[in-house]
Amino acid sequence: MSTDKKLVIGLFGFGVVGEGLYHVLHQTPSLKAEIRRVCIKHPGKKRNAPAELFTTDKDELLFDKEINVIVEVIDDSVAAFDIVHTAFKNGKAVVSASKKMIAEHLNEILALQKETNLPFLCEAAACASIPVIRNLEEYYDNDLLHGIKAIVNGSTNFILTKMFEEKLTYSEALLLAQQLGFAESNPALDVEGFDAVNKWTLLLTHAYGIIESPENIVFTGIQNIQLTDANVAKEKSYDIKLVAQAQKLKNGKVAAFVLPQFVSHDDHLSFVRNEYNGVVIESGFADKQFFYGKGAGSFPTASAVLSDISALRYDYKYEY
Ligand code: HSE
Repeated sequence: MSTDKKLVIGLFGFGVVGEGLYHVLHQTPSLKAEIRRVCIKHPGKKRNAPAELFTTDKDELLFDKEINVIVEVIDDSVAAFDIVHTAFKNGKAVVSASKKMIAEHLNEILALQKETNLPFLCEAAACASIPVIRNLEEYYDNDLLHGIKAIVNGSTNFILTKMFEEKLTYSEALLLAQQLGFAESNPALDVEGFDAVNKWTLLLTHAYGIIESPENIVFTGIQNIQLTDANVAKEKSYDIKLVAQAQKLKNGKVAAFVLPQFVSHDDHLSFVRNEYNGVVIESGFADKQFFYGKGAGSFPTASAVLSDISALRYDYKYEY
């Protein structure tokens, strides 16, 4: 696409992330990317954008010939996959932040991408503002990637920080995470570990090039952690964090789990507080690297979606 031609976006979802993207895009005029229509589920809600932008008819976006990029940031994974599928079939590039949908449909998405030769980007689907997906995909050699451990869910990290450092109760901390737009609309997905497993599936697929399935990952959430656990940890100079970990085994397979762990104070992950995420990567020759940044919230997540839109133009030289 010539840099004079606009990326014309059809946006699905105007919640925390969608609205964030709308405002972020207004501050990046040189990207020449414009949101043409926004498809929403609930009409009539007051929104901070012109009313004529909105529709409840998905076909007005998916079959609009001028729209060349579909950005999908909804939290219904069934509807999200349907959107992705139809967008590909109609020749549009896709940017998605739907970690659950992607983790559940990795094989089908890759097949669609291959069939249509269209880009599918999802940097916002794991660790929000941290540019880790493309780095894992492009920077590291699979053979040299010894292990990764990470905090990939902002809400649980926020809740643990507030409970153990500021003495909030579990319910107070969760409510705050919801009010700040960090938690999923069903927060059980966060606290019971499902969201972390979906993100870990996605990250490991990019890291090791092996299609992982969420079912292969052993996991527990933070729902049973008590203040007394934190006191025990503190006495021994540890923090409790929900840690995702993966190790490449000699047989080429990857052992992966997501579990609450004691993290010592000299571990990089103990530095990760509140809604921040962190990823520690160990690889041959490079040794250890630490990625750190906000893992949830409107603008941090929108910034990752923006990076995908920018990648369509500058890296993929996406033509339509
Ligand atoms: N609920 C998610 C989290 C949002 O807390 O990490 C960002 O993916």
